[in-house]
Amino acid sequence: MATTKRHDVKDLALAPEGVRRIEWADRQMPVLAAIRRRFETEQPLNGYRISACLHVTTETANLMRTLKAGGADVVLCASNPLSTQDDVAAALVEEYDISVFAIKGEDNDTYYAHIEAAVDHKPHLTMDDGADVIGVLHSHRREQLGDIIAGTEETTTGVIRLKALEADGALGFPIIAVNEAQTKHLFDNRYGTGQSTIDGIIRATNVLLAGKRFVVAGYGWVGRGVASRARGMGSHVIITEVDPMKALEATMDGFEVLSMSRAAEVGDIFVTATGDKHVLARQHMEKMKDGAILANTGHFNVEIDIPALKSLATETREARAFVEEFTLADGRRLYLVADGRLVNLAAAEGHPALVMDMSFANQALAAEYAVQNAGELEKKVYGVPTEIDKEIARLKLETMGVEIDTLTEEQAKYLASWDEGT
Ligand SMILES: NC(=O)c1ccc[n+]([C@@H]2O[C@H](COP(=O)([O-])OP(=O)(O)OC[C@H]3O[C@@H](n4cnc5c(N)ncnc54)[C@H](O)[C@@H]3O)[C@@H](O)[C@H]2O)c1
Repeated sequence: MATTKRHDVKDLALAPEGVRRIEWADRQMPVLAAIRRRFETEQPLNGYRISACLHVTTETANLMRTLKAGGADVVLCASNPLSTQDDVAAALVEEYDISVFAIKGEDNDTYYAHIEAAVDHKPHLTMDDGADVIGVLHSHRREQLGDIIAGTEETTTGVIRLKALEADGALGFPIIAVNEAQTKHLFDNRYGTGQSTIDGIIRATNVLLAGKRFVVAGYGWVGRGVASRARGMGSHVIITEVDPMKALEATMDGFEVLSMSRAAEVGDIFVTATGDKHVLARQHMEKMKDGAILANTGHFNVEIDIPALKSLATETREARAFVEEFTLADGRRLYLVADGRLVNLAAAEGHPALVMDMSFANQALAAEYAVQNAGELEKKVYGVPTEIDKEIARLKLETMGVEIDTLTEEQAKYLASWDEGT
């Protein structure tokens, strides 16, 4: 199909490879495919414009196809300057006739110009991963706020930003926090990020994980996924935390828990997964061993204090693709992976499609829910309704061929009563 859409992508000639890879991912996304088939018939998004700012990957392409099948007019830009897969961007424009503004490695100005281009689409619905479109709308495009029915937000960091906006009484339209669905964070953040973060580090460095001291900062959903996968690869995993409950869990899960100040002295590989700032700071870098590898899998590239690393270095060079070597005054070398940006998306391909199937089923159904309930939603951050969450789990199990039991009438009655103790 020849494109009719506005776009800014690297090279439309990459489209055939993108189509092959999108189709490959689609095979692992049966829940989203079932929703797409229903959307084709029911057209729940007919007449609605959607501006989506997500990682431009094969899985996202299948979400875009699903929204379009439901009747939406969709524009996509990138939620990270390094995560775009250029062949996918080309395929979306050329084969699926969807406007895309995203080029892998784009500079900051282009990144924000692309977000503005998505906002120019005058959306009724927004779809964010890190709240960048919502940020633009709430700063200098406020005149558009009134046209928007609702927005959805994919990740922990975005939800935190939006809850802060809500608490200030400044949220301009309702938000559905897709990250809060259990079928999202229990699987995507834990298993998806867990596996793909390890994948990104290995692809970038080719380091052997067995026998290494692997430090994970943050034992939230992402951190515990990374930690368990690193342990599975034979690393000695050390956790750092600020929340005593999470630190206790990590201890009882059998991990060593240390302060970062102590972990910095012994770690071979460091991965930040906190959503926080300067978790790896100057005082830690000053103590690190020669050859230490530093990577981040939290949303923004602020978890590692990169300006501090630069100021400590007397020399820098590219050691390998996606690995920058910083030589310090005493000769020690520290290695920063993927500019401290999401390592799983920058140096690997992001989450496997099988988990994104559930995350993006939530996105598609949240968009439908927002349209159906447009009149009732207030300017608040909502979770995904439990019925949608459970339905996605049920569908996923069905597509995996897993059968579960159902309560008998007698059991349901027993569990619902307070006096049937015997
Ligand atoms: N790479 C990806 O593809 C991907 C996928 C999902 C989420 N994320 C991002 O990963 C980050 C973490 O997400 P999550 O769902 O695990 O969040 P979470 O809230 O479940 O966990 C974050 C943990 O970090 C801890 N923490 C905060 N500051 C810390 C510090 N200074 N030192 C040590 N620990 C600290 C918190 O106590 C918490 O336990 C977020 O930025 C999220 O947006 C990335």
